[in-house]
Amino acid sequence: MNEMTEIRIDIENSNKINEKIAIIGTGNYGVAIGKRLLHFGYEVIYGSRNPNKEYLKKCFQDLNNTYQMDVTSIYDAWNRADNLVILAISVDNYENFVSEIMSSLNEKNSQKKSKIIIEISNLKDSDNFKTLKISNAEKLNSLFKEKISEKNLNYPIHVVKGFNLINAHSISLFLYETNKTNLTNCDLTVPIAGNDRHAKQKVIELCSIIGLKANDIGLLKSSLKLELANKLTFDEWKYPTLISLVYFFVNFVWEFFHNFIFTKKPTTFDEYMKKFSLMSFIIKSSGFTSLYLLAFVYLGHVIACIYQLKYGTKYKKFPKWLDQWLKTRKQFGLWAFMFATIHVILSIMTINPQYSASWFKKTGNYTYGKMTLNGEMNTLTGVFTYLLLILVALSSINSIANSLNWNEWNFVQAKIGLFCLLLGSLHCFSMFYRQFSEMTQIDLVFILTRTKLIAIWLPCLVLILRFIFGYFRPLSKRIENIRNGQKVKIDKV
Ligand SMILES: NC(=O)c1ccc[n+]([C@@H]2O[C@H](COP(=O)([O-])OP(=O)(O)OC[C@H]3O[C@@H](n4cnc5c(N)ncnc54)[C@H](OP(=O)(O)O)[C@@H]3O)[C@@H](O)[C@H]2O)c1
Ligand code: HEM
Repeated sequence: MNEMTEIRIDIENSNKINEKIAIIGTGNYGVAIGKRLLHFGYEVIYGSRNPNKEYLKKCFQDLNNTYQMDVTSIYDAWNRADNLVILAISVDNYENFVSEIMSSLNEKNSQKKSKIIIEISNLKDSDNFKTLKISNAEKLNSLFKEKISEKNLNYPIHVVKGFNLINAHSISLFLYETNKTNLTNCDLTVPIAGNDRHAKQKVIELCSIIGLKANDIGLLKSSLKLELANKLTFDEWKYPTLISLVYFFVNFVWEFFHNFIFTKKPTTFDEYMKKFSLMSFIIKSSGFTSLYLLAFVYLGHVIACIYQLKYGTKYKKFPKWLDQWLKTRKQFGLWAFMFATIHVILSIMTINPQYSASWFKKTGNYTYGKMTLNGEMNTLTGVFTYLLLILVALSSINSIANSLNWNEWNFVQAKIGLFCLLLGSLHCFSMFYRQFSEMTQIDLVFILTRTKLIAIWLPCLVLILRFIFGYFRPLSKRIENIRNGQKVKIDKV
């Protein structure tokens, strides 16, 4: 029994890191990060308004080294920490916290040890993050600076922002995790920001010891980005989603009324409603929406080219709306893919003479044979467009994009993407062509109101402009020069 105890102590000692870290706050995060630190052998001293060792011991009962943990008053924990202090309290309490520390500091005890405060807070729900200019970490930094200069002390305190993007659950999850996949993929990254290089180095070392990967993103002013990152949930998806859904709705309504108004085959609205098929309308409007959204993605680039040609330089900032458009092309592209998927699934379920009679050879009054050549062309162009679209969509997933070099990525996104636009347009045009070839006399209103023709106006415009900017030498050379950083005189454009 004695031997066993000896061995246990040896193992624990070999794991021990001779460093005391203070954690202020015994809430969810304080406990979670404390578990991780204790697990890796750090000595943890909690600073609490109501030190309660029994409560904390209960929190850590699944760890076998709670003896390296202590809980005391906030100032005492601060004072006993070697260097690092993790501030796990809400930002509302920062002023109290700073006052408590500063009221106990004087010329004599402030000489002892410098402190690195790891500031982990997130923005509060009540914060208006659109107008925020200063982060919580910067606020804390200036609170300390003010008080230190008021007291005329020479006490180095460095604030490092970090950990706010990892939640309390994930930081200690690996302790209980038994799932192989989760264990092999648990490489958590901790972006950090701070003004002092040595302080950041210390935090980077801490992260590496406790099995995390720190990523220095710059000075303390970058911490606002880290705080906003948690607030702006799917922010870049907001406008693309809204525009795509509204656009789909408009298309749906257009499909619905357009057929009745322009074909006038059923003479009354009641008759029209009897023939109504919801599936058919969703198929048509999702196809239309998908093709236009895809064109919209590449139109952004075309407008950017025109803008740069106009000003003869790449150094003039794009207007905000264009900048936003260029930044959200991925989201628009993925919505195009989403609508293409709806279109394809519903089309495949309904490709039969009841829904698409014109795609099949008529063998009798109510009987149909194989597909016509036109029907086959429609299907083939549709299938190939969709397969290529899958490739383009996959290459916009970060992990896949990272595995491609720039040329490969550009080839898939630009060349294959544009080829999709071309094939999609052919898919529509071949349907329009059948309607056109069946006309006994030219009816301009009929031709111009065909959705299958309208559906390719924008894609064709984008394809033609892309072709001109890419292959019409005087323009493509000028764009190339601008992109290489040269200034092309406006009068030459
Ligand atoms: N929870 C998460 O997943 C998560 C993720 C990222 C970032 N964060 C950030 O971590 C910080 C703590 O979050 P939490 O979830 O741990 O909050 P919490 O569970 O509410 O705990 C906060 C702790 O702060 C201490 N406290 C409360 N009032 C105080 C005061 N007036 N002065 C000093 N200390 C006070 C309390 O500890 P004592 O009773 O021991 O004094 C309390 O347990 C927050 O800034 C939050 O934004 C949390
Ligand atoms: C397996 C692949 C596909 C099949 C089977 C298919 C099938 C169809 C069908 C049945 C229609 C409706 C014809 C009608 O009733 O008038 C249609 C129309 C259309 N499809 Fe596809 N399609 C495919 C892929 C695609 C893709 C990937 C796109 C876009 C990127 C697309 C864009 C369109 C457009 C714009 C229309 C015209 C919509 C309208 O008339 O308003 N299709 N397709």
